[in-house]
Amino acid sequence: MAGIKDSSRGGFSNKIGFVLAAAGSAVGLGNIWKFPFEVSDGGGGAFVVMYLAFCFMLCFPVMMAEVAIGRKTNKNAVGAFTENGHKAWSALGKLGVLTGILILSFYNVVAGWALGFAIEMFAGNFELGQNFGAFIGNWQLNLVFSSIFMVVTIYIVAKGVSGGIEKASKILMPSLLILILSLMAYSLTQEGAIDGVIYYLVPDFNAITFETAYGAMGQAFFSLSLGMGALITYGSYVGKKDNIVTSTTMILLTDVGIAFIAGLMMFAFVFSQGLQGQGGGAGLIFTVLPGAFESIGPVLGRVIGGFFFVLLSFAALTSTVSLLEVPVAYVVDEYEVRRERTVWIVGLGIFLLGIPSMLGNGTVPFFTEFVQYSSSENPVSFMDFIEDMASDTFLPLGGFLISVYTAWVWRGDNFKKEVEIGNPGFGDSLIGKYTIFALKYLAPFILGSITVITILSKFFGIHILGA
Ligand code: TRP
Repeated sequence: MAGIKDSSRGGFSNKIGFVLAAAGSAVGLGNIWKFPFEVSDGGGGAFVVMYLAFCFMLCFPVMMAEVAIGRKTNKNAVGAFTENGHKAWSALGKLGVLTGILILSFYNVVAGWALGFAIEMFAGNFELGQNFGAFIGNWQLNLVFSSIFMVVTIYIVAKGVSGGIEKASKILMPSLLILILSLMAYSLTQEGAIDGVIYYLVPDFNAITFETAYGAMGQAFFSLSLGMGALITYGSYVGKKDNIVTSTTMILLTDVGIAFIAGLMMFAFVFSQGLQGQGGGAGLIFTVLPGAFESIGPVLGRVIGGFFFVLLSFAALTSTVSLLEVPVAYVVDEYEVRRERTVWIVGLGIFLLGIPSMLGNGTVPFFTEFVQYSSSENPVSFMDFIEDMASDTFLPLGGFLISVYTAWVWRGDNFKKEVEIGNPGFGDSLIGKYTIFALKYLAPFILGSITVITILSKFFGIHILGA
């Protein structure tokens, strides 16, 4: 039982348990809901290229750093820094806890949509795609779906790490992959699909701006569950014999692979239905997919559509579990309170925080037109604002600080030593050398500059470098 280090905190039963749970955290609404509409907002193929570059070149090193910090210290996202002898840096962990709380508050609302869509697809309500606005504006219904979702999340987290998270991931993740692959194959047979594939795969480099780079960077962190200590927390449950490099590689490839396939499928459907250029925003998959399921046939379409949203809901569940685990592990470790009660209090608090996101889809004007950025014409909703703050700004900021911390404060050599337990020779390998270089220079420079430049232009209207 290599993975279990401290039975009172729980632990993964073995290496594959950690990889599955971390991949379960990574794969979620970010891959299937968020990625396609971000690609669409970001101008297609150019966004995809930037996203892939961020994932492989910057997020991969940051991911290893998070897991190594977690395993070294055996602590939660906040306590890890104190344990490592750098108490001041626990503020970074606190930023992570706050970010996780913010993300979960809106994520849970979208997860509720997925649940609602599952029921509606089984019922054969294919018109729901055109009625998406009315669906999300029906707050009573959304309140029901998202409370169901939060209660299930709380229930799983309350049971502890290995009991709930591992078991669910093992069956459902592969099922989701098979279903998306089949849908992708089907989507490519549709008339006009090829234009979607071209839009998705052939980059128009004129579409690259600082704002799209910022979006791609945020998306990469969001999709990989990175930049807020979720993987510090999960890493704290990993055994010393495990190989951090191969584990993180598997998580990365699974997550990016699923996003990539989901994107391909989506744009084939979008173009074959003639819906391109409509700026679907956060509603993209919900407006496009019902029509695609309808085209499969009245009965089969219901079954496949229903299962698709059931599996999407489960993928979201393994992600909400990891988001809730971060603040809970922090409170339980640091304040030595009972896990069960903490989970309920924190979970319900986050649920309440999500209510303005729910009401900001047409129900309450104040939340629907919440802020006006200098860079855009229309005001954005409460949910979009929280999403911009938490996922596009705080996650890369967290990634920036984690890189600086690992390379310069904890120091590259100590990081290397930790990874070498379970992977001797890491320091001399090409990956090892690149990782240290990326954490020292590349990640701080790129993440730092894109974040600063975009925040100035997007929120303050100050344009440097023509951004
Ligand atoms: N990665 C998940 C998704 O793509 C969302 C998520 C779960 C997350 N845990 C996280 C994002 C931690 C950031 C940080 O749906």
